[in-house]
Amino acid sequence: MKKLSTLAFTSIVALTAGISAAQADKLTLYCSADDEFCQVMARGFEAATGIDVNMTRKSSGETFAQVKAESSNPKGDVWWGGTGDPHLQAAEEGLTMAYVSPMRGELHPWALGQAAAANDKTIGIYLGVLGYGYNSDIMAANDLPLPTCWADLLDPVYKGHIQMANPNSSGTAYTTLATIVQIFGEDEGFEYMKGLHANINQYTKSGSAPIKAAARGENTIGVAFLHGVVKQAVSGFPVDGVAPCEGTGYEIGSMSIIDGARNLDEAKMFYDWALSAEAQSEAWKVNSFQVPSNVSAESSPLAPDPATINLIDYDFKLYGSSAERKRLLQKWDEDVSVLPQ
Ligand code: F6P
Repeated sequence: MKKLSTLAFTSIVALTAGISAAQADKLTLYCSADDEFCQVMARGFEAATGIDVNMTRKSSGETFAQVKAESSNPKGDVWWGGTGDPHLQAAEEGLTMAYVSPMRGELHPWALGQAAAANDKTIGIYLGVLGYGYNSDIMAANDLPLPTCWADLLDPVYKGHIQMANPNSSGTAYTTLATIVQIFGEDEGFEYMKGLHANINQYTKSGSAPIKAAARGENTIGVAFLHGVVKQAVSGFPVDGVAPCEGTGYEIGSMSIIDGARNLDEAKMFYDWALSAEAQSEAWKVNSFQVPSNVSAESSPLAPDPATINLIDYDFKLYGSSAERKRLLQKWDEDVSVLPQ
């Protein structure tokens, strides 16, 4: 498997080497993962191809808004990373273009399912499981009970102790909203979000900020992807992760080529390279513990194993659709975010 993967990528580089020699090679990359992961991808591609990468990091919902705002005069070439829902919305709105990579044969079915849901305008690059994490020292110091379920977070004992991101800017927080609606149903789910709001100390812009704050003792419980909790734990912070007892949602982190990309050849090269086992095996070395979409990519034994977690049958097609994402965000803005705390 490993050999095949290396061969496949080597031949892509050989095929495209002519392009990189002939043009002033550059790529504008919009990245919606953690900064360290974005840097590894940008610098890794530069090292593999000699193409200069101009990378900007923004959260998933923010990048979607930027790609949409620039659609009459696109400035980005590839949007790499971030949760899959806004990538699906971008595909539906014609903001991204179809591309069938020769690397597809190396990918997990869930990564290809994402492509199928978007008529090939996006593809899965990693999978991450949602949950929350807490600072165990602060929990102990405040004599707080250790939560194990989504429902536990509504206990008034946690008032001011919970942080999550704003679902408009953050894909993590939108995944949370969609997960809660899928677990509890829409009416009860929105009652849940209102109850949670009463305990929230701050809505951050980025999805990883709440668990980073918990790690550093500036917050107690952060709604987060579990790989983000592991990242803080391996960095030496006193955090523990929870896969909630009711079951939980997950992301298929995605990648799309922006429609009207100015550097289309380079965009395709990046796309193929980013799907290779070689590129994806670098992730966990910078403590990015998502499950890689290439079946031969190496991942850390510390990475959360989705097979051991009660995952819901997340409806990516519905919750990544333009109408549903807009509707849920507007409802959260109007019915939840305005409530007093
Ligand atoms: O890189 C960390 C990560 O958790 C990714 O797995 C995810 O796609 C992304 O951040 C989401 O970030 P945000 O919630 O800020 O859009």
